[in-house]
Amino acid sequence: MKALITGASSGIGRDMARYCSNLGYDLVIVARRRDLLEELKNDLATEVKIECMDLSKQENCEKLFAENQDIDLLINNAGFGDFGKFDETDLEKELAMIDTNIKSLHILTKLYVRHMKNNNHGRMLNVASIAGFMAGPLMATYYATKNYVVSLSKAIDKELRKDGSKVSVSVLCPGPVNTNFDNVANVKFSLKGLPSETVAKYAIDKTLQGKKVIIPGFLMKLIYVGNKLAPACLSLEIAYHSQKRKQT
Ligand SMILES: NC(=O)c1ccc[n+]([C@@H]2O[C@H](COP(=O)([O-])OP(=O)(O)OC[C@H]3O[C@@H](n4cnc5c(N)ncnc54)[C@H](OP(=O)(O)O)[C@@H]3O)[C@@H](O)[C@H]2O)c1
Repeated sequence: MKALITGASSGIGRDMARYCSNLGYDLVIVARRRDLLEELKNDLATEVKIECMDLSKQENCEKLFAENQDIDLLINNAGFGDFGKFDETDLEKELAMIDTNIKSLHILTKLYVRHMKNNNHGRMLNVASIAGFMAGPLMATYYATKNYVVSLSKAIDKELRKDGSKVSVSVLCPGPVNTNFDNVANVKFSLKGLPSETVAKYAIDKTLQGKKVIIPGFLMKLIYVGNKLAPACLSLEIAYHSQKRKQT
């Protein structure tokens, strides 16, 4: 069994790599920071291949697929956010965010879904966020990228079910998790974050059970249901105030 995990140099991806290795998976771990990937590799008992690359570049995604086709579990986890009013945030950072959170995930999902479908074998986990179910003033681009991931993942999985395929696509939608995310996004979480290890284990277990939309923690499940029931203008207002509290 082999799992490929993007964004494995820290946070949720690193803890997913540890948990998958404990389950007996050989790994392909992907990120830009080679030293952190080497450190992780040295900690793990199963076979680990390092792919040190910037996934925001299309050619790197294609190279990754070309060199790693025998994958049983693909985890598209690499991603980041940014805080601020849309007219003030940095365009280049947002384009890099779109290339990482959306474009690279899209390319890898397409290449691996085709391949897995041909073999009628494989599972995929795309990491979105609870932000994927709503609009997020003050983190507008990040929320929009995660809406894309939720929508794409659910639709592809539905197509696979209709075709009677054994391949599945799950989507992980956590609230705050204690990782390096808040430093990169320049936010301070207003809610207590879940431990990354807990989220990683929960997500992998649920993916292997074939669960489609994975929301760790009771509070986030409640927020998910509340957001579905609330009128759109109210949930937008609540999102604005909860984001504003994240200002550092
Ligand atoms: N933490 C939260 O509260 C939270 C909540 C909901 C969803 N999420 C999602 O969870 C995922 C993992 O984030 P995290 O919380 O674990 O944050 P993190 O600790 O900052 O990890 C992000 C990972 O993504 C990798 N990455 C970023 N840009 C990349 C690029 N261009 N190419 C290759 N790798 C790249 C980083 O590696 P390098 O820097 O070494 O490249 C790192 O391994 C993200 O998709 C995030 O949106 C996080």
